[in-house]
Amino acid sequence: MGYLRWRQAMERALYGPDGFFVRAGAGPAGHFRTSVHASPLFAGAVLRLVQWVDEGLGRPDELVVCDVGAGRGELLVALGAQARRQDPGLANRLTLRAVERAERPESLPGWVEWTDRIAPIDAGLLFANEWLDNVPCEVMGLDEEGVARYVLVDPLTGDEQLGGVLSDEDGRWLETQFKPLPERAELGLPRDRAWAEAVSTLGRGLAVAVDYAHTRATRPPYGTLTGYRAGQQVAPVPDGSCDLTAHVALDACLDAAATTNPRVTHSLWTTQREALRALGVSGERPPLALASSDPVGYVRALAAAGEAAELTALGGLGSFLWGAQAVDMGLPAGWQTLSP
Ligand SMILES: C[S@@+](CC[C@H](N)C(=O)[O-])C[C@H]1O[C@@H](n2cnc3c(N)ncnc32)[C@H](O)[C@@H]1O
Repeated sequence: MGYLRWRQAMERALYGPDGFFVRAGAGPAGHFRTSVHASPLFAGAVLRLVQWVDEGLGRPDELVVCDVGAGRGELLVALGAQARRQDPGLANRLTLRAVERAERPESLPGWVEWTDRIAPIDAGLLFANEWLDNVPCEVMGLDEEGVARYVLVDPLTGDEQLGGVLSDEDGRWLETQFKPLPERAELGLPRDRAWAEAVSTLGRGLAVAVDYAHTRATRPPYGTLTGYRAGQQVAPVPDGSCDLTAHVALDACLDAAATTNPRVTHSLWTTQREALRALGVSGERPPLALASSDPVGYVRALAAAGEAAELTALGGLGSFLWGAQAVDMGLPAGWQTLSP
């Protein structure tokens, strides 16, 4: 097949015929653990976010929760079940919509909609957990003269070599986002565009992207592209046998959406740790006294504290970034004072 640019190689390996994400089977959960798989507390926190959005929008007749890059629909299934138990009034007004390039899983309950592109949403929450890091992108490397060139890859072996100089638009993106120029970097233009397009589908509501990410102060100097297979981090070989993921320039995505959509009223980014704490997820252990007054409750609370600690651990899931943009509404009250 010969050497390809990384964006094309990623596209084929992840989403081409029999691609890593679109082939039948367990899906992403079979290879790596996202916050969605780590604990139902994550879906509980997203439910609280849905309640905030619902309140902020004046409780519309229909509230859409659109999960972009939904995997096998795990988040919406957990969210729907919790909403029915905790807030049946809201549950009756919810439309739960998964957007996924993979086929609808046979076992998915009928109350979860499944589609392969984002349709317009009048009012709701658009949520994307670990979507943007899997949007294929180019990789650049500096040559010996310090000129930025596309990195080419052999899809069968993962061997790389430098190719042509960057296009004007990729070059501008690199120079705007990285100072000084890095040795190697993933070029985020396709992610910026994908996010801006997703946000533009929202009539009113909140759009949230959660990902491995960096911002201007923390751009990585050597790139982040890597692979995952069966729970292990592996070399990124674009042969369809592993996930291919690169961290997201999240502030660039937010800027792109705010620039192209004047209805974006507020943008913020923060760590998952802070975002989840504001949504009531805390890793604090239950009081020891509970162990004697309610032993079963104590054990349950202890397990929940362990799961919350995993979701909020710095250096782990807690260091993921949440980027949020409000469209034609205010930011939820609980997030107004958040900072990274
Ligand atoms: C890392 S998985 C995350 C799954 C799930 N959100 C979770 O957190 O467990 C990324 C998913 O995004 C999907 N995806 C990537 N690009 C997409 C697109 N343009 N439209 C819909 N789904 C997409 C992939 O097929 C894959 O299932």
